[in-house]
Amino acid sequence: RTIESLGDLRSRTVIVRCDLNVPLSDGVITDDGRIRASLTTIRELRDAGAKIVIISHLGRPKGEPEARYSLKPVAVRMSELLGAPVEFVDQTVGASASAAVGALVDGDVVLLENLRFNAGETSKDDAERRAFAEQLAELGDAFVSDGFGVVHRRQASVYDLAQLLPSAAGRLVAAELEVLQRLTVDPARPYTVVLGGSKVSDKLGVISHLIERVDTLLIGGGMLFTFLAAQGHAVAASLLEQDQLDTVRGYLADAEKRGVRIVLPTDVVVAETFSADAAHEIVPADAIESSSFGDAGIGLDIGPDSATAFADVIASSATVFWNGPMGVFEMEAFAAGTRAVAKALTETEGFTVVGGGDSAAAVRALGFSDDQFGHISTGGGASLEFLEGKQLPGLEVLA
Ligand code: 3PG
Repeated sequence: RTIESLGDLRSRTVIVRCDLNVPLSDGVITDDGRIRASLTTIRELRDAGAKIVIISHLGRPKGEPEARYSLKPVAVRMSELLGAPVEFVDQTVGASASAAVGALVDGDVVLLENLRFNAGETSKDDAERRAFAEQLAELGDAFVSDGFGVVHRRQASVYDLAQLLPSAAGRLVAAELEVLQRLTVDPARPYTVVLGGSKVSDKLGVISHLIERVDTLLIGGGMLFTFLAAQGHAVAASLLEQDQLDTVRGYLADAEKRGVRIVLPTDVVVAETFSADAAHEIVPADAIESSSFGDAGIGLDIGPDSATAFADVIASSATVFWNGPMGVFEMEAFAAGTRAVAKALTETEGFTVVGGGDSAAAVRALGFSDDQFGHISTGGGASLEFLEGKQLPGLEVLA
């Protein structure tokens, strides 16, 4: 259901669930992409004369207030970007939240404090979650679900609240779905997926699902070492998930049977320690222990030959989905692989999607801009679960 289904919104109080979970460093927002992405819906609701109550989480506080997870800096940034006041209320539900909402006039915007300061938001207990959703529902007349990054969470503000008020998907959720459907319903081929990030275990579902659908999988990031180890190579002190070796061997066998290419790096950047100024060398991926650091060496990026090979595959792909950095891009010495993949995505003729809050922040931190890609998804876990073909609670409830 889209916003139209809610009818005339003039003078009605609309609760909008956004995903304003932005990266912060010492209270300063380092990437405001998720705030920008939320503006289309907010502007439209203001134009329609609604009174707007924005709710969101930030980080993973444990059900009680923690100053470092306050949404206050987000309200300030949102107000700048919107060009209109965004009042911040230091409560999610309660007397001051109700009073602030009650005082809104048409077109006003208020942002309530972090949903996850309330235990009910993420509770596994249905009744506790429902009780918190009921408190939220009292604040509005209608609900717009626009936090794409959280639609895979069965949480009070995502799932339960949508059942308590007239509800619809916001413009961001609708736009994200349209793009991701291009990847799941008959994608243009060759279809390549580039996966990085540290843990294989986070990507298990998506890898097994993708093997049935893609032409090529490029593997980088910390998880590549578990793939190398599964092929029988020593990986020195690099990240290794021993308990995933059999699963990964299964993937490699399955991919071979199906004629899907899984491309692993042929060279890697190995460092003496995990630090920005560590001594480092490029070594063949099947001889990591041959570096000067012996079995203490830690692989922190894909090497230049691999980056070129990955870029070549991307250049000849018609569809590319990318999730997860190729190395520790936050440290300049180990950013080249991620930068090369990002650059290749900007240069290919194919349709490109960058999936995930972290991957999006990575490409922006490396100096690329959103318009150089086909689409930058605001959802990390959500976009992966969508590609896995899972039912997402926050979408299911709007159907
Ligand atoms: C994200 O960053 O992927 C979303 O904001 C969801 O956050 P969560 O993984 O803490 O639920």
